[in-house]
Amino acid sequence: MSLRAELEKSVTAWAATHFPGLPAEPWVRPCADERHGHFQTHFAMVAAKAQRLNPRDLAERLAKECPPPEGWEKPTVAGGGFVNYRVGPEAVGRAVDALRQDPNLGIPRVPKPESVVVDFSSPNIAKAMHVGHIRSTLLGDSLARLLTRLGHRVNRVNHLGDWGTQFGKLLLAYRAAGRPPLQPDQAIDQLEEFYKKGHQEAESDPAKMDQARAELAALQDGNPERRKDWRLFCESSAEHFRKIYERLGVRFDSIRGESAYHEDLPKVVQDLLQKQIAEVSQGAVVVRNRTIAEEPYLIRKSDGAFLYATTDLAAIQYRTEELKADRIIYVTDARQQLHFRWLFDTARRAGCRAELEHVWFGTVLGPDRKPLKSRDGTPLKLIDLLNEAKERAGVILKSKRPDLPPEGLEAKAELLGMASLKYADQLPNRNLDYVFTWEKLLAFDGNTAPYILNAYVRTRSILRKSGLAKHPCAPVRVAHPSEERLARLLLRFGDAVELAAADRKPHHLCGYLYDLAGQYHRFFEACPVLQLPALRDSRLTLVGLTGDVLKEGLGLLGIPTLEEM
Ligand code: ARG
Repeated sequence: MSLRAELEKSVTAWAATHFPGLPAEPWVRPCADERHGHFQTHFAMVAAKAQRLNPRDLAERLAKECPPPEGWEKPTVAGGGFVNYRVGPEAVGRAVDALRQDPNLGIPRVPKPESVVVDFSSPNIAKAMHVGHIRSTLLGDSLARLLTRLGHRVNRVNHLGDWGTQFGKLLLAYRAAGRPPLQPDQAIDQLEEFYKKGHQEAESDPAKMDQARAELAALQDGNPERRKDWRLFCESSAEHFRKIYERLGVRFDSIRGESAYHEDLPKVVQDLLQKQIAEVSQGAVVVRNRTIAEEPYLIRKSDGAFLYATTDLAAIQYRTEELKADRIIYVTDARQQLHFRWLFDTARRAGCRAELEHVWFGTVLGPDRKPLKSRDGTPLKLIDLLNEAKERAGVILKSKRPDLPPEGLEAKAELLGMASLKYADQLPNRNLDYVFTWEKLLAFDGNTAPYILNAYVRTRSILRKSGLAKHPCAPVRVAHPSEERLARLLLRFGDAVELAAADRKPHHLCGYLYDLAGQYHRFFEACPVLQLPALRDSRLTLVGLTGDVLKEGLGLLGIPTLEEM
């Protein structure tokens, strides 16, 4: 248990006895400024407000009646009713000693594991993945890692957009060109060209638009030739996606596109009509709820076509009934918030008992604060972004390590490039837009992957220098203040992981790892590790533990480590 969790337990117990009506929530947080204490609780302020008591008096009572765990200092009352706590060095030593023997590094297991579907990345077929997909892909991957680490059963699902109306226009142009074979390396660009052409034609000529509609209908009715073309589009797109996922180290348990639900759609609509959740309106089928919007939610068009929404309703049924999901988490950008409000509301009214959550994120911006684009103004392709990250990382590495042979450089540049991109993308609070800049991403001395990886590499190099075959696991003695600070930070790892998972916000973990890397550097400046025989094993143990926590934390963000820069 972390120090925070230990204190939390006693505060919660006291709160439950004296204020049974108040909801349980995390009452104990680390202090922003350590001069006030290591942890604090605002419980007295909340309870006093609810019960019309004096907050400072209540804080005094809490401080007196609810003693902190053994080895902590006497709590103090501050401000308008905060109670501040400070851990003594011996208690830190004891806790860190337990940590070094804990294979989970202080990460707790959830008491009630759930079966969770994480629906993420989910790009559309026949288009290159672009920068807009990076946050969904990385955020979804990290959430899946975090939830798995805490003990949930996670199902990573890629809900490919393989059944939209774009196929009418695409088929139109592809067939007009005589159904040419697609080149493995350029298939995705070829498909984009066909789509562009089909789109332009259909938009400027009503007859062509009718043809595109007929192509789509033929595909959906199962016409063998159209199906064959469509399968080719899907397979060549999948190949393009696969390469990107491989470079990003992202995997899925199931790639189940929209087309998989095609046959279930009529029944979904029938069901909703029967339950009187949906109604027919001017030939279309809609769901109404004025608390969400004046405009209704369309689930079948008047021409009989089904929509994105209908497919999502079918997918919920599949995930709850077949996959037995207790919870479904959707990771998409902020613009889909209304869609998901409608979707969740409709599904719940239809009897869905699983928890449904939309985890949304903001836009990646260019230096002009507009959505990041390529130099020619087109959407920036993800593959180009990955290549540039690798190339730039290569240039930096070469300047730092001119001795590296080309093969070594290549592999390291790839690792460092991907790591930097992944870290920079997860560092901002997901609900905010952020401005993308290469300089910020690759700097060795900012809140970046290279900085944190460098701290990790330094822990490894001391362990190698110590000559020990295994990294030591000796009792820890906290002798120096910066050593004590490092130990206390290590003890917060479990809290950081829990918070990142609970908020669905990996940036909490980035913040933690940055603090840890910084404190490690300060510790290293202040405390000789190998020179003092009496402290050597204890300090090597702390160094090893720091390395383990950095590696595990980066791993939860999908970032692999390296042993040498
Ligand atoms: N394909 C969609 C898009 O590119 C995202 C799908 C998200 N998942 C879902 N079940 N709706 O915007």
